[in-house]
Amino acid sequence: MAILKVARLGHPVLRQVAEPVPADAIPSPETQRLIDDMIETMREYSGAGLAATQVHRLVQIAVIEVLKDPRYPDAPEIPLTVLINPIVTPLTEQTEDGWEGCLSIPDMRGIVPRWTAVRLEARDREGQPIDLKAADFFARVIQHESDHLNGLVYVDRMRDLRTLTHLAEWNRYWLGATEQND
Ligand code: NI
Repeated sequence: MAILKVARLGHPVLRQVAEPVPADAIPSPETQRLIDDMIETMREYSGAGLAATQVHRLVQIAVIEVLKDPRYPDAPEIPLTVLINPIVTPLTEQTEDGWEGCLSIPDMRGIVPRWTAVRLEARDREGQPIDLKAADFFARVIQHESDHLNGLVYVDRMRDLRTLTHLAEWNRYWLGATEQND
């Protein structure tokens, strides 16, 4: 396994659209190694998720994981989830504002509106179909990662750029004033 280099905002690769992974390429050693490396990279940098475009690979693969953090005992947990060729469909008209960060936009946070419930259709790393309904924080992370695979980053979704803040200032002025939603 290897820790991969993460593209930062401004790198053109973040604005490209990823290609679907053909079904017969999912079990290949190359695809499986990429998934393992993406998981390792996400964990190394304490991300909630990582999309292949962020590690310079234009394939529709994303990984998500949120572990229990003793600093945020009330924050939701998401078990390790590997998404291949995800299709995300809103299940509601309702959006909710929440804080997001991104490994490609280091040390920043911003408030982003997201659908509160989505249907997720995808394949897992064994190629098995995933078809689930996700709500709230899980739905938010799915939308964030799916956006990456379509060349979008969270700042594109912000309604008001005045909430865009550096992490140190976020800790100082915003934490506690609003719900934490990374
Ligand atoms: Ni991101």
